[in-house]
Amino acid sequence: MNNLFAFDDATCRHLAEKHGTPCFAYSGAAAEAQFTALRTALSSRVRLAYAVKANPHPGILARFASLGASFDCASIGELMRVDALLLPVGRTFFAGPGKRETELRKALAMGVRVQAEGFEDLARLDALTDRETAVNLRVHPAFEIDEGNRIIGGSGPSAFGVDEEDVPALLQRAADLRHVRIRGLHVFAASNQRDASKLSAIHGVVLELGKRLYDTHGLAFEQIDLGGGLGIPYALEQNPLDVKMIGQGLSNLLAAHPWFTGELILEPGRFLAGPCGVYLARVVRIKESRGTRFAILEGGINHLIRPLLTGEPFPVKVVGKGEGDLPYTLAGPLCTSLDRLGDVCLPELAAGDLLAFGSTGAYGLNEGMTHFLSHPVPPEVWVN
Ligand SMILES: Cc1ncc(COP(=O)(O)O)c(C=O)c1O
Repeated sequence: MNNLFAFDDATCRHLAEKHGTPCFAYSGAAAEAQFTALRTALSSRVRLAYAVKANPHPGILARFASLGASFDCASIGELMRVDALLLPVGRTFFAGPGKRETELRKALAMGVRVQAEGFEDLARLDALTDRETAVNLRVHPAFEIDEGNRIIGGSGPSAFGVDEEDVPALLQRAADLRHVRIRGLHVFAASNQRDASKLSAIHGVVLELGKRLYDTHGLAFEQIDLGGGLGIPYALEQNPLDVKMIGQGLSNLLAAHPWFTGELILEPGRFLAGPCGVYLARVVRIKESRGTRFAILEGGINHLIRPLLTGEPFPVKVVGKGEGDLPYTLAGPLCTSLDRLGDVCLPELAAGDLLAFGSTGAYGLNEGMTHFLSHPVPPEVWVN
């Protein structure tokens, strides 16, 4: 059965009493288990780069670094956090559709591999460096994408990467650059995908794209970055991703594409960090309103915005109360009717009851609207 909660009830109660509520807690053991399960399923020609945006907590970064992870950053703030890990050169990547000059300078100083999202990235880097600099080119593919949810935005117009049809013109312009050389391909085309066969199909299409670029433009890639998008269950009935199948699919692709002799990169965020996190918040009051039973909690979309963005709630349990079938609308304390964490069935609730939201280790607090209404920012507890 899926384990949607990194901590049992006794540990949740202990953490809430010790650190106060609301709070986030992250399990080092759960983070490590998730990393190891995926790493073990992958061949040594697949690099695993943790997408820091999922959760930049120093405990998580240090644990993944100690397990050999590389890191995918998307801002100067993330670069600085990864810089503090003192990793060898080659283990950090920098993506993002709007990179500023200060960020590119920082990336160059750290020896980070930049995922260029357009000619501007290439030209700016070229002007900032005086030595040969390898970059990866992020391409926004033309193929239709089954994302699961629309975080990346399908195959229509996109702010990310170079549109596939514009690649030839970009390569022509890039030929005049003095120092910057395209040595890798980057495609990100999935989000929270739990179906291994769909993810493997996307990986296959990316390798085909790489082959076309190799055949038509002679681009011999050192790296092909397949992005993240590895999904996790947010409900008991959802199957976990079959990582062995993902690993096997990548090995098959490497065998089927002998023209490519470099390394593949996966950059998952949600898959690696999601399961290790639990968010703890108490019920402040119950309100019955015209047929709807609201449980108003200490925190809402200021701490967890994903249910509002995707319509999918985080799994929730009432600590010490077991299962229940009373319908509740979970509301936060903010002065907006958008502040909802889901419509769920729970045992009867009363003020003071402790709720635990599982799988909140990725896109949890760091995605929330923490400054809205100036509630104190909840502590994040690293449980080693
Ligand atoms: C460039 C890039 N890499 C990796 C990720 C991580 O995605 P996920 O958490 O779905 O694996 C994202 C997410 O938006 C991204 O934009």
